[in-house]
Amino acid sequence: MKVLEAEFTKGFIRLCTDGWEQGWHERNGGNASYRIKEEEIAGICEELEENGEWRKIGTCVPGLGNEYFLVTGSGKYFRNVALKPEECIGIIHLDQQGENYKICWGFQGGARPTSELPSHLMNHEVKKRVSGGKHRVIYHAHPANVIALTFVLPLEDEVFTRELWEMATECPVVFPDGIGVVGWMVPGGRKIAVETSRLMEKYDVAVWAHHGMFCSGEDFDLTFGLMHTVEKAAEILTKVLAMVPQKRQTITVQDFRDLAEGFHVTLPERFLYEK
Ligand code: 13P
Ligand code: ZN
Repeated sequence: MKVLEAEFTKGFIRLCTDGWEQGWHERNGGNASYRIKEEEIAGICEELEENGEWRKIGTCVPGLGNEYFLVTGSGKYFRNVALKPEECIGIIHLDQQGENYKICWGFQGGARPTSELPSHLMNHEVKKRVSGGKHRVIYHAHPANVIALTFVLPLEDEVFTRELWEMATECPVVFPDGIGVVGWMVPGGRKIAVETSRLMEKYDVAVWAHHGMFCSGEDFDLTFGLMHTVEKAAEILTKVLAMVPQKRQTITVQDFRDLAEGFHVTLPERFLYEK
């Protein structure tokens, strides 16, 4: 099978197009990666080139040794992914130690993986372990409302989680574990990757102050849906904050407890503080 005919490639491209249409990917903003299943690699192996040169990842991810990933290219525009996939995205193969990668497909014209590859792979390594191999998608976007909130709310996991939970009844059901926040850091390197992957031990969402958001999930629908839900809640909160200095009414701590019971989710106590 051709790489472009594979279902996972189609799902990946659709995520990129959907994200562009949401307005989350100005210019080359944002990036995405998918940890490819063994059987999916077997289906496309005829098109994979294994003689490429090894290049440094910029960090070490031994838990991902020998795995293949579909990744967006550095400097590539999400709006172009569906039009020119062979140039905008590519498949990489990691070595056994998880220190180097080689390009096996795509990235035509001298492209290379996203500058956020260390963050993507360190997040994948954590998520593969804590989800028992279920999580396969890491998605980074620049959604305006979440970014706006990082100028207004304290950069604390408890505050972001609770304020966003209050904005839509479904939120605690969609992200019951909460949201982590990374203070402003230089993007694109190992340092921010270490901070973000630490948060991925307990959350599926990490906000980068004044920059954007990372989401992790089992498949493209769940991961895109998570980004969409958090950003929608952030949009409601920016509207509320613009309208009044203080909410007149909201979802209460008792309401959250009732919701948790009704929907069979566990909400960590540290987010259910009295204000
Ligand atoms: P890349 O074009 O290298 O993926 O970078 C975009 C981005 O959002 C950096 O955080
Ligand atoms: Zn970014």
